[in-house]
Amino acid sequence: MTNIAIFASGSGSNAENIANYFASHHDINIAVIISNKPDAYVHERAKQLGVPSFTFKKSDFDNGTVILNKMAEYQIDFIVLAGFLLKVPHSIMEAFPNSIINIHPALLPKYGGKGMYGDNVHNAVKNAGETETGITIHYINENYDEGDIIYQAMCEVADLDTPQDIANKVHTLEQMHFPKIIEKILRKNSKNISKY
Ligand code: GAR
Repeated sequence: MTNIAIFASGSGSNAENIANYFASHHDINIAVIISNKPDAYVHERAKQLGVPSFTFKKSDFDNGTVILNKMAEYQIDFIVLAGFLLKVPHSIMEAFPNSIINIHPALLPKYGGKGMYGDNVHNAVKNAGETETGITIHYINENYDEGDIIYQAMCEVADLDTPQDIANKVHTLEQMHFPKIIEKILRKNSKNISKY
């Protein structure tokens, strides 16, 4: 069994979609959802999905130990950042080499970096007059949005698209691709992945 932890700070539509996708899998399990925000809607979704969810303070993320203990408690093999807005500290990255991925709502390296999340990204894409945008799924490293790219999918930005229209198109791509790419990575790495 490969156990996944999802880290999320917001609404959790990706977390929910991933959990639903893997619900029918016997060998891949969404074991826990972790957040830095007690009032994030992702907790409500977790409750409905029957997945345990927990909130930790920023200082706990920065220190790493409490989070790593939680990962050990749930025998986590792989971490998925799905709208998670804090930087992952070195200690967690070290404990999960090549096993932490993030989704970014644009075509990195464009529109990445600190402060580039959610609507900020779509507004920037609109203001720059881009004719296309998309999603990037990538490994994380020490710098925001700079880890190795695993997968990108594109969509058109039409002249009359508002930032909300762009967000909707990107959301559709996320729902369509993110769970499948997670599965592909896990199946490819399956010989190395189980630490427990
Ligand atoms: C998603 O669009 C994700 O790509 C983005 O936050 C949203 C979370 O939505 N992530 C970032 O901007 C990271 N820089 P969700 O909470 O409904 O899954």
